[in-house]
Amino acid sequence: MSLPRKIRDAVYSVGAIDWDRRLFDELIPLPDGTSYNSYLVMGSEKTALIDAVDPKFRNSLLTNLEELGIKKIDYMIANHAEQDHSGTIPDILEIYPEARVVCTEKCKGILVDLLHISEDRFIVVKDGDTISLGDKTLRFIHAPWVHWPETMLTYLEEDKILFSCDLFGSHFATSDLYVSDKCLVYEAAKRYYAEIMMPFRSLIRGHLKKVKELDLNIIAPSHGPMYDDPNFIIEAYEDWVSDKVKDEVVLAYVSMHGSTKAMVDYFVKALIREGLTVKQFNLTVSDIGELAMALVDASTLVLASPTVLGGPHPSAVYAAYLANVLRPKLKYISFIGSYSWGGRALEVIKNLLSNLKVEFLEPVVIKGLLRNEDYEKLDRLARDISERRGE
Ligand code: FEO
Repeated sequence: MSLPRKIRDAVYSVGAIDWDRRLFDELIPLPDGTSYNSYLVMGSEKTALIDAVDPKFRNSLLTNLEELGIKKIDYMIANHAEQDHSGTIPDILEIYPEARVVCTEKCKGILVDLLHISEDRFIVVKDGDTISLGDKTLRFIHAPWVHWPETMLTYLEEDKILFSCDLFGSHFATSDLYVSDKCLVYEAAKRYYAEIMMPFRSLIRGHLKKVKELDLNIIAPSHGPMYDDPNFIIEAYEDWVSDKVKDEVVLAYVSMHGSTKAMVDYFVKALIREGLTVKQFNLTVSDIGELAMALVDASTLVLASPTVLGGPHPSAVYAAYLANVLRPKLKYISFIGSYSWGGRALEVIKNLLSNLKVEFLEPVVIKGLLRNEDYEKLDRLARDISERRGE
């Protein structure tokens, strides 16, 4: 679905809403769909298109441009090379033969590889460079690693609009041009941050400083609604990228015959008795995005797994691998689990978490079903976590 919509004089939203998409990168659940936002800026002399759309929505973008009567595009601004924004650039270059792709040097290399765009169609811009469209000026702000190495932001000086591509985005399909329900968009933006931005939070902290120096009326990301109150999303990001953690325990578990589940049930009660907040995820049915979101703020992760085929259950391996690559600001990790005859579950899980600079709290690994002394070990682990509150 799409239709061109006016943002300011000569500035239009021309992207597409994808109400039905439920998975991104064949990995990330999208409960609220998404959008691929593309923006058209028509200066008195030149016209620029800022980011394109996913190839599935090629016709939506082209129809929007046709509806606006666009006969010439001078600049195709590529803030990011990933195909959900760049996949339609070859179509734009074919239909608008004067158009040149404006991007970072690194982005140029990636676009040549991914889309086989001819090298002579590019204009490479440095951090701080500007391009005049006549009565409108685009300024380019290099912002690498949100979430690829080539990313940049584009600032429309006269209208004070920041086109931020993935940064500040949310997978949230809505007919509203701007955020209307802050609670819903906060959740969607946090999920988005957790899934792709969190590993780069220390770099994003630097980018936020640059963004805060801009005079901003609007932040226009390439997924989800625009922010006409930019501080809303800037403050949310400042919180997420900070080193502050909440005294929360994320407990991600899988159980085959119930022994590990019995440990989890007892352990959760012990944590609650200690006054801790627990977020429990059954890895066989949980939305991985919810788990990633819980890891944005939590101080502690406890993985729980039985031993199968001599090691941890593959669902626990998946969760450990995911936590390791997402690099949340966790301070403590532990493991609980049960085995029948032996195995290396704990060792394998520990090795999977090597990226995380955390304290590994004394795990509880038991043979078979819980015995009296095992309950005491779980109580001790709950106390260990509780004693570290606020550290
Ligand atoms: Fe929305 Fe990284 O692409």
